[in-house]
Amino acid sequence: MERIAVLTSGGDAPGMNAAIRAVVRTALANKMDIYGVERGYAGLVKGEITRLNHRAVSDMIHKGGTFLKTARCPEFKEIEVQQQAADALSAYGIDALVVIGGDGTLRGAKDLSDNCGVKVVGIPGTIDNDLAYTDYTIGFDTAVNSVLWAINNLRDTMHSHDRVSLIEVMGRHCGDIALYAGVAGGVEYVLVPEIPYDLDKIASSIKKSYLRGKTSNMIILAEGAGNREEIVSRIQEKSGMSVKVTNFGYIQRGGSPNMQDRILAARFGYKAVEILKNDGESCAIGIKDNKVITVPFSEVSKAKKTFDKELYDIAHTLSL
Ligand code: ADP
Ligand code: F6P
Repeated sequence: MERIAVLTSGGDAPGMNAAIRAVVRTALANKMDIYGVERGYAGLVKGEITRLNHRAVSDMIHKGGTFLKTARCPEFKEIEVQQQAADALSAYGIDALVVIGGDGTLRGAKDLSDNCGVKVVGIPGTIDNDLAYTDYTIGFDTAVNSVLWAINNLRDTMHSHDRVSLIEVMGRHCGDIALYAGVAGGVEYVLVPEIPYDLDKIASSIKKSYLRGKTSNMIILAEGAGNREEIVSRIQEKSGMSVKVTNFGYIQRGGSPNMQDRILAARFGYKAVEILKNDGESCAIGIKDNKVITVPFSEVSKAKKTFDKELYDIAHTLSL
């Protein structure tokens, strides 16, 4: 491989810039030409491709977001559009592509590889941590810590006012952000899509705990676990207490990546280029038991993510 390209796609995640930097610097160290594609698959199809050098990634390691920008490109599911992307790479004489993104991005990578014969290596980058084949994705840890910061602040004010609060966090269909932030923040109720919950029981438990002298309670809701307004009105109706709502929103997707995400980015970016240097097959990179692994794209979507039920039980046991 002499000429490779890198792109970021789907929702941005803290650590994507650090991962691009790792890909660029490893490629240059191996005397490869490296190109950046702007705006994910959408930009690739349009040929938004520029040459990168060492300085293009200077002062990037600590920045959230992605300087290559990102986009959704629903039409990339069509084989004709994938072929346009492959043609754009050929026009630049690019032999292989590194993509950084989540579940959808890796599906796109599989299609580009299977349908158009492009060599693609996928790096998992999403705050959602919703990929089964890897223990962690770049951005998850930073996002959880941002949520934790919000929980700490909420605790101060909710405790002072004897209030019940609900904070909604992201994660699409995955409850990991809510689970990890909930345990680390000492939240009383963790509502995730993976585990059914009973709002009437929660309401009655909040009421009972108030009568016992526990005057402040916090609920963390993963976005995929139900409708925020319906949950709040049900709990208010059944407990007779008012619930203050915070939707933490896009704040959790920005910010400087923490140590864990920068190290993951460095290890994944380095590995991606090593694979291409050694003429390896298209694959996705991940981490299992702190070892960097590679997995064929066919395994990525097949694997079913297991929810950490023990951690969920710990959350509720410790918050009683
Ligand atoms: P993420 O990568 O964070 O999961 P998305 O689900 O939005 O984010 O996917 C990012 C992009 O990947 C989509 O906009 C689309 O271009 C591409 N993509 C998603 N699913 C597929 C698919 N089944 N086949 C081909 N490309 C896909
Ligand atoms: O995949 C990352 C993510 O932030 C999800 O947690 C969330 O559901 C989604 O992206 C939001 O997407 P958008 O930026 O299109 O609103």
